[in-house]
Amino acid sequence: MILLTGATGYIGSHTWVELLLAGHQVVGIDNFSNSNPKVLNRIKQISGQEPVFYSGDVRDRAPLNKIFQTHNVKAVIHFAALKAVGESVQKPLQYYQNNLSGLLMLAEVMQEHKCTHFVFSSSATVYHPNNPIPYQENMPLGSTSPYGWSKYMSEQILRDIEIANHDFSVAYLRYFNPVGAHASGLIGEDPRGVPNNLMPYVTQVAVGQRDHLSVYGGDWPTADGTGVRDYIHVVDLARGHVKALNYLLSGKGSITANLGAGKGYSVLDLVKAFEKASNKKIPYKIVDRRAGDIAAFYADPTLAKDKLDWSVEYDLNRMCEDSWRWQSQNPNGFE
Ligand code: NAD
Ligand code: WQD
Repeated sequence: MILLTGATGYIGSHTWVELLLAGHQVVGIDNFSNSNPKVLNRIKQISGQEPVFYSGDVRDRAPLNKIFQTHNVKAVIHFAALKAVGESVQKPLQYYQNNLSGLLMLAEVMQEHKCTHFVFSSSATVYHPNNPIPYQENMPLGSTSPYGWSKYMSEQILRDIEIANHDFSVAYLRYFNPVGAHASGLIGEDPRGVPNNLMPYVTQVAVGQRDHLSVYGGDWPTADGTGVRDYIHVVDLARGHVKALNYLLSGKGSITANLGAGKGYSVLDLVKAFEKASNKKIPYKIVDRRAGDIAAFYADPTLAKDKLDWSVEYDLNRMCEDSWRWQSQNPNGFE
């Protein structure tokens, strides 16, 4: 059995589906602080299997103990975290409390139950913003927000556990910018309130929930002046987790890997691709830069290719098509 924390969230739900497809048995836990219980029924519709799920918080020992006592958990994939960069600047305590206490409790319970394989949701945000692009795994780390530091500290905590316990192996997966949705249109990203991230904002403009996109800066040192990022289809990302899990289960030890496409697209590239995929016009206005943003970053995904035999299959057009299918079939998300 593979335990997924944050299992009903955006990346968790897509990974759940890909794990089932690959023949793994999965048990999920989530406190629904940023997801909807209806996801469970959608996972059932896609997979034809009844999801094994516990409603609970990873900062609480009791639900975790219950799961480990009931199921033979061979590995954990830990998605559960708060993830809004801007909000983390306003609420640092909440972010450190949730993201670090959750990790510590989970690691403790795993140790008690002798579970030694851990896949961790890290982020490109752990790279020091002054690094040259593309980012490589051995480049200097550092961050710019409490959210980013919580990921940096989590990596450090796990590395220290590895030193003390040689059986413990970790896949540190540094995600770039996940977008897109399952091809069925049944699961996808469902942010609460005003989306912080580009793609969900664009899809909400396309369905008429917002009247225009604010593009944060048109004077960045990039080809068209707008910010450049490495967008990765969430299903490709989910498959990266299956590969990383198999790597750990086969006893190869720990690994730190970028999960990105290795290509940079600007805000306007994404807007144009989305307009083509959806046949909708996306009105936009160039506004001031957003605090904390940098001009451009993308991954060097060579290590994941070489060691995990993983690389992306879906291009930007497919990301836009699938995001649009999800948003147009579910204009109000899971509600
Ligand atoms: P998400 O918010 O959709 O999913 C996270 C899930 O964790 C939610 O369902 C939430 O309810 C749950 N959760 C949060 N705290 C919990 C707790 N204490 N106990 C139990 N459940 C809890 O976010 P996502 O986009 O699916 O991200 C998953 C992971 O990937 C996170 O760790 C995030 O930091 C990381 N990540 C995300 C991105 C991104 O852009 N989406 C990029 C890099 C890394
Ligand atoms: C992408 C580009 C914006 C919204 C964040 C986190 C990162 C990771 C992914 C978790 C940038 C521009 C955006 C809008 C815009 N998450 N933009 N108008 O900032 O690269 O990464 O999410 O780990 O850690 O920092 O993603 O989607 O917010 O922005 O012009 O309304 O779109 O300036 O250039 P970002 P994003």
